[in-house]
Amino acid sequence: MPITKQTIAIIGAGGNMGSAIATSSAGGNYRLLLFDREPEQLGSLHEEILKTHPKADLELMNCPHESSWEADIIILAVPHGAEKELADKIRDVATQKIVVSIANPIDEDFGELITDPSTSAAEELQQWLPNSKVVKAFNTTFAADFEQPIIDGKQVDAFIAGDDEVALQTVTELVETAGFNPINAGDLSVSGTLERMQLLLMQLTIKNEYNWLAGWKILHN
Ligand SMILES: NC(=O)c1ccc[n+]([C@@H]2O[C@H](COP(=O)([O-])OP(=O)(O)OC[C@H]3O[C@@H](n4cnc5c(N)ncnc54)[C@H](OP(=O)(O)O)[C@@H]3O)[C@@H](O)[C@H]2O)c1
Repeated sequence: MPITKQTIAIIGAGGNMGSAIATSSAGGNYRLLLFDREPEQLGSLHEEILKTHPKADLELMNCPHESSWEADIIILAVPHGAEKELADKIRDVATQKIVVSIANPIDEDFGELITDPSTSAAEELQQWLPNSKVVKAFNTTFAADFEQPIIDGKQVDAFIAGDDEVALQTVTELVETAGFNPINAGDLSVSGTLERMQLLLMQLTIKNEYNWLAGWKILHN
């Protein structure tokens, strides 16, 4: 958990992943700024989080630009298709800040990635936000895992990738606060592998009926 309180803006906080990240990090030393296009999505989330974490530092926000301006860490909990538009909206206030890419750019049939094989959602986001520190995280964990990050007695691994060491450490602390075992997978170019890993896990989940409660675990001595 960070010693100094950090401010996290979650854009898309009313969605499956946005609400899971907000709920799981609310017990940490964070101020959470929650934004969703549909503000009514956030009322019940706010109440639910305060039931579990009465001292949570939460604020409901009206726009992604203002949320990002106040934040140290910006999490885009939106589909990859919405990231370019959001990057355009927040670019001037995201300079030198950590922007977390959680997106898996997967087609509607869960058949393949829609990004070019030479790149990834995270690397595209880095191109759109050239002055931000993009970190890939939380893309290999299902939203349902956040309530239960220990599956079959094992703590689910959460892979992180990025080019800035301080940013990686900051996101590692966030991932730990959320209840997962963080694994630094390397620089941002590893993101394509992490996104393909989650495509495979989704395909296996559908085939084997894991009920969207499944995760990755590296076993080692
Ligand atoms: N679900 C998972 O288990 C999982 C796991 C790992 C990674 N991911 C990734 O996490 C991201 C979110 O997935 P999700 O399952 O949480 O989706 P979701 O439940 O559909 O939530 C998406 C959120 O994004 C918002 N949004 C969509 N388009 C937007 C735009 N143009 N501007 C602003 N906000 C916009 C939606 O707002 P509205 O409420 O207004 O529609 C909603 O709050 C995706 O990139 C996905 O690949 C998901």
